[in-house]
Amino acid sequence: MEAIILAGGFGTRLRPFTFTKAKSLLPILNEPMISHLIKTLPKKVDTVILAVNYRREQIEDYFFKHDFGKTILVNEEPEPLGTGGAVKFADRYIKGAFFVLNADIICSLNLTEMLRFHKKKKAIVTISLWPVENVSEFGVVDIKKDGTITKFVEKPKAEDAPSDLINAGAYLLEPQVLNYIESGNLVSMEKQIFPQIIQNTGRFFGYKFKGYWCDVGRISSYINVQSLLLEKQKKTFVTGEQCSIKGKLYHSCVGNMVRIGKTTTIESSVLFDNVNVGENVLLDHCVIGEHVEIGDGSILRNVAVGDNERIDKHANLDNSVVWNQPIPEGYPSKQIGNVIGE
Ligand code: GDD
Ligand code: MG
Repeated sequence: MEAIILAGGFGTRLRPFTFTKAKSLLPILNEPMISHLIKTLPKKVDTVILAVNYRREQIEDYFFKHDFGKTILVNEEPEPLGTGGAVKFADRYIKGAFFVLNADIICSLNLTEMLRFHKKKKAIVTISLWPVENVSEFGVVDIKKDGTITKFVEKPKAEDAPSDLINAGAYLLEPQVLNYIESGNLVSMEKQIFPQIIQNTGRFFGYKFKGYWCDVGRISSYINVQSLLLEKQKKTFVTGEQCSIKGKLYHSCVGNMVRIGKTTTIESSVLFDNVNVGENVLLDHCVIGEHVEIGDGSILRNVAVGDNERIDKHANLDNSVVWNQPIPEGYPSKQIGNVIGE
């Protein structure tokens, strides 16, 4: 069985980190986001198709070095084709019912149970569902008691949302869905394809599950998901290899070869590899990129510091993004695909 992982897209809401890295490789508890996802795939899934474009070479390189016991195919679109176009672009690999997974979700969904549900319902499409308060940022459904979805609206205004149940970013699709998607075009699965399948087939189902669900689409959720996973593992922090930690860490993740000076406090923050934090520093709800230096006595709250940046001694920063290097060529100024209010 095949699973397509949608790991293209620029991850614009996670800049400056996506200026230098593929979103799906950003670390969660010191392990790339995509690796957490692949570990949730049922045994039955023997082939994983990575639908990629931006920073394809980093993703390829990661899978060249790490074995997941499955065939991993890197399928690079010539240009971003959107969530539907990327699925169509992988059609030559599809042999039967297949999974499609957004790469930026960390959750407790059991994909084997979802597959069982899909078969039992004889569904053409099954999508995972999760209740949220801020529906406008997601795809929202109207659902009947038996699980049939009668409406799917991508990023509606709050007053137009049919319910509080959103598309949780994991789908099971029968191969006939591919016939609905035109080749070679920018196609949104959520805006163009799902509504058509609901209307034409009436066999579009929603699968609710229990536990936790996090969309790792923006900096705040990127921090929150790690706090949640730490809590689940009953840990206050994690550190990588060859670190020298003299300060105190709370609810934080620290990569390899990180140095933290004495009387420094790190709270609800994520530090990538090779970070050097001075003495008497406070980092609160910060994400700190690779090879960053943070001078003694600095106080940073809600700050994202991109790779290779330097923070002077006694800096005081609040709610900001630090990036003083050129923006990579071709990197869009805003989210391309599933934009709110488009
Ligand atoms: N290969 C490829 N090509 N992948 C893409 C492309 C593309 O052109 N565009 C986006 N993706 C990938 C992203 O990397 C991400 O893993 C996934 O498709 C979804 O795109 P996002 O840009 O993250 O969409 P979103 O978060 O605004 O909304 C989506 O996820 C929500 C749940 O988190 C939608 O599916 C919503 O309906 C859903 O509720
Ligand atoms: Mg997303």
